[in-house]
Amino acid sequence: MSHSSNHGKSPFELNQDQLNCLRYYDLISKNNDLKKLAERVSADFQSQTLSPNDMTTIENVDQESKNLFSEILQKSNESKPVVIYMDGVFDIIHSGHFNAIRQAKKLGDILLVGVNSDEEVHKSKGPTLMNTAERTILASACKWADKALEGTPYTPTIELLDKVGADFGAHGDDIAPNENGVDCYQAIKDKGRMKIFKRTSGVSTTELLGRLLRAVESQDEKKSNEKEEIQSTPILSNFLTTGWRLNQFSSNKLPKTGQKVVYLDGNWDLLHVGHIDILEKAKSKGDFLYVGVFNDSLIQKEMGRHYPIMNMQERVLNILALKYVDDVVIGCPWIITENMMDSLNIDTVLSLTNKKDSHLIQTHPRLEIPKKLNKLEFLYSEYSDDNQFLIDRLKSNKAEFIRKYNIKSIKESNYYINAKQPSEI
Ligand code: CTP
Repeated sequence: MSHSSNHGKSPFELNQDQLNCLRYYDLISKNNDLKKLAERVSADFQSQTLSPNDMTTIENVDQESKNLFSEILQKSNESKPVVIYMDGVFDIIHSGHFNAIRQAKKLGDILLVGVNSDEEVHKSKGPTLMNTAERTILASACKWADKALEGTPYTPTIELLDKVGADFGAHGDDIAPNENGVDCYQAIKDKGRMKIFKRTSGVSTTELLGRLLRAVESQDEKKSNEKEEIQSTPILSNFLTTGWRLNQFSSNKLPKTGQKVVYLDGNWDLLHVGHIDILEKAKSKGDFLYVGVFNDSLIQKEMGRHYPIMNMQERVLNILALKYVDDVVIGCPWIITENMMDSLNIDTVLSLTNKKDSHLIQTHPRLEIPKKLNKLEFLYSEYSDDNQFLIDRLKSNKAEFIRKYNIKSIKESNYYINAKQPSEI
């Protein structure tokens, strides 16, 4: 996972060069010829560390490419793309957040996703389960985010929009009050530089926090003697996965002839930085990555009745929103068969290991067939794919999380009572 740094500036500020890179990247990603050229010319260009300005001065770039890039430069100056700044906490990232990022991207050409700093969030909303750096890695892994800006303020200002080069701010149709109870976006709204999209019903950090707290509560041998108890959820909405929603999230593509198809399955419950590391590595092993998502009863059998915290539809949408993933296998089989590998044209089955020494790696019986076919490859990651560390964090600050849940769940149900139902984009 790479992280860019801005020397001597607040981490979320972008300089003009970085903004230019995003602009050109946007232009190129919409044009197949330019995309091919960019691929040929420079990996740095694709990773947005170089702009076409730099390109014209690099020695190993041929004249034809230089000319083409000059042309792009001219065109892009003629039609300036609209830059959107959408921010949030994105704690326990979920399909509502990803759907918000998807909608915000549609409001312009380039999407900057601001990730509020821990300090700011703690003041206005209470503790987070994941810290700023982790939340930023998760938001930047979303395929609709052009860039995630780490550690942004909870209340954005016009100056902030100008500093990051954004034309508009964007947020869901729920009001986000600051620590003084005032709408965080009022100043931006007053200047006509705010765009609003539809909040996704039935999924929220609060809802997931409630599920986690209840799971922890009923697992604990000795019942907690916390002063505050988890209130029953007054929320009136369920998350509904429609075909339309799946279609919005899907990349809608098949592997092309000659592409190397790799496959990795898992639970993918409560997305965390370990998952992103694993998926990024998995994608680097081939051209097309299928990610298998186990069904709920299978996970329950393996891990106990409180798991998974996110149901299969929620986990599938999360995985589809990530830029390393080409497609998912929904409710994938536990045992990998030759038939399954044939039907998806899988060249290599990947399996996670925390062991560096290959002699110590043991193959799970469910992977015997790919192993026998010599189509099994181990993927090393220092991270584990389980989420016990999140449960431990929750337990270590349980009283505060319960307090946050009780306050936020009432606010959220008020939102549902008052919400108008504009359509999504
Ligand atoms: N959002 C959304 N649908 C949801 C949850 C969040 O559209 N179900 C949007 C918010 O409107 C905001 C962005 O996602 O524009 C980031 O939300 P965030 O600041 O993380 O906080 P919350 O709105 O509080 O999310 P949650 O209620 O899940 O804590």
